[in-house]
Order: sequence, then structure tokens, then C-alpha cells
Amino acid sequence: MPELAANTALPANAAGLPTITPDENGFGAEIGNIDLTQPISDAAFEIIHEAFLRHKVLVFRGQPLDDAAHQAFAQRFGPLEGHINVSTRHAKLPQVQVFSNVKADGTTTGVHPEKGTLVWHTDKSYVAEPSLTTILRSPAIAKKGGDTLFADMARAYGDLPQATKDRLEGLMCVHDWKRSREKSNERPATEDEMRAAPPVVHPMVRTHPETGAKALYIGNHTACIVGWSWADSDSFIAELETHATQPQYIYRHKWQVDDVMMWDNRATLHCVEPYDAANEKRAVHRVVVKGDRPY
Ligand code: OGA
Ligand code: MN
Repeated sequence: MPELAANTALPANAAGLPTITPDENGFGAEIGNIDLTQPISDAAFEIIHEAFLRHKVLVFRGQPLDDAAHQAFAQRFGPLEGHINVSTRHAKLPQVQVFSNVKADGTTTGVHPEKGTLVWHTDKSYVAEPSLTTILRSPAIAKKGGDTLFADMARAYGDLPQATKDRLEGLMCVHDWKRSREKSNERPATEDEMRAAPPVVHPMVRTHPETGAKALYIGNHTACIVGWSWADSDSFIAELETHATQPQYIYRHKWQVDDVMMWDNRATLHCVEPYDAANEKRAVHRVVVKGDRPY
């Protein structure tokens, strides 16, 4: 990537290319001057892709996409993947998932659709080749709460004391859908889900395949550190998560209707802030791009 300061704002381009407005610390950026309801040019894609690698979380405001356009935009980043939980699958487009507490009659179900999203996680770390990016759009937002928080795992790793980095060297961690469900008090994993997503092992520090940056790779899907006792493993993972989710590593997204947002699962954790799921309507549609094996 060209050498630009992390928070360099690129000016609007006369040729109509997207603009990039990074958050003040360079983690998270808003992309302007782009219409995602239309196919995007290769030049626009390149700018967005570079901003994605640099800022890790991108927001596009005012994008009234339908599911087909949402899917088409996601496909620019690579092949899409379905989800283990088939109950949230879109009725017609199996690669679109709907997390919503709104019923067909317009009333709420009273519960947040996926409790696992309320705790820090990185998408699908419980499979061998976890998600590269998740792209959400927001047909319905909560008036209070329901923000999505992101934590920068590359910066958090970089700031660790050398002794902790040494301790992490070579450590591998089991990630498990079944255990993740238990930890977030969700309905237990089904037999089919456990068959589709048996436990997998990933390094606790992963190297970004595109930028080479190292990042902590943890979150709620972790079960235990290979070769460690449950107690030691739980406490080390908790210590790392506490460090990595301090305010200086966080980007908070306050939703507006028709936002599109995407994040790099290889270098971030995210979670949804609680909201009143009985009285507030919140719905996101999500499309996920397949990633590769962490190393
Ligand atoms: C997800 C997720 C966050 C949200 O889609 O993977 O964690 O804001 N969602 O709904
Ligand atoms: Mn998620």
C-alpha cells in the first residue's frame, strides 16, 4: 500500500471516485461519493479495497440497496459463504442472512435474534477458513442502543508488552460453535450444526494475508488454548480481550437506516450493544465473503 498516514482524508475526486473520511484515530472510515445500488467501477473498487485494508471498518451512508445489489457488491470482494444457522437464512437468497426481531405482522419477537452477536467475536472463527468480511445493511435500527462496536486487533496486539507477545508465540486456540453457543446463552447447537462445524484450531496471533500485519485472533468462539488447562486458558483469553477492547481500540457505529457497513474479520472483533428488543425494531441483512485459513 502507498505510504499514507492512517488518518489522511482523501479529497473528493473530480472523476467521481469515492471519498474516504477516516475516524480520528484511523480505525474505521466513512466512504462517500459512491452509489452502491449501481455496479461500481474497478477504480472505485480499488479505492474502497485499499481503504478497507487500511481502516478495517467501512461505513457507507444512505445506500437503499435491495438484497440482490447487496450481494453483488459483496461479490466484488470474493466468493460468498452461507451460514451454519439456517434459521436466519433469507427465504429466496440463501447467501443473505437476516438478523431481525421484527415479525411479518410488524410486531417484535421480543428478543435479539442472535445472542452470540452481543459478545465480542470475529465472524465464523469456528470454521477452518473463517469469514474475510461481513457486509451489513440496516433496514431497521434501534433508537436507543443497538450500536455495533469494533475493536482493532492489530493495534491491540502491537501495544501488548513484549512478555505477553512472547507468551503468545506459537499458541493455538480451539474455536467451537457448540461452545460459543453455550458461552452466549443461545439455544444449544443442533446435531447438524455440530456436524457442519466441528471444533477447529487457529493461531492466537494471525498474520493478515494482504497486509502482513499481526493481530490477536480471539473472541467468543474460542473454547480453549491447546495444551492449557481450562482455567488458565479462560483467564488468559479474558485478559487479552480486556486489553483489546479498551476505548482506544474501539470504533462505535451508530446506525442510520440504509447504512451499509463492512469490516475485516481478520483483524477486528465486533459486538452489538444491547437494546430493548421488546420495544425497539432492529434488522440487519448480512452477506459474508469467504476467507482463508489463518496462519
Ligand atoms: C454479524 C454481527 C452485528 C450487528 O452480522 O456478524 O455480528 O450489528 N452483527 O447486527
Ligand atoms: Mn458477527
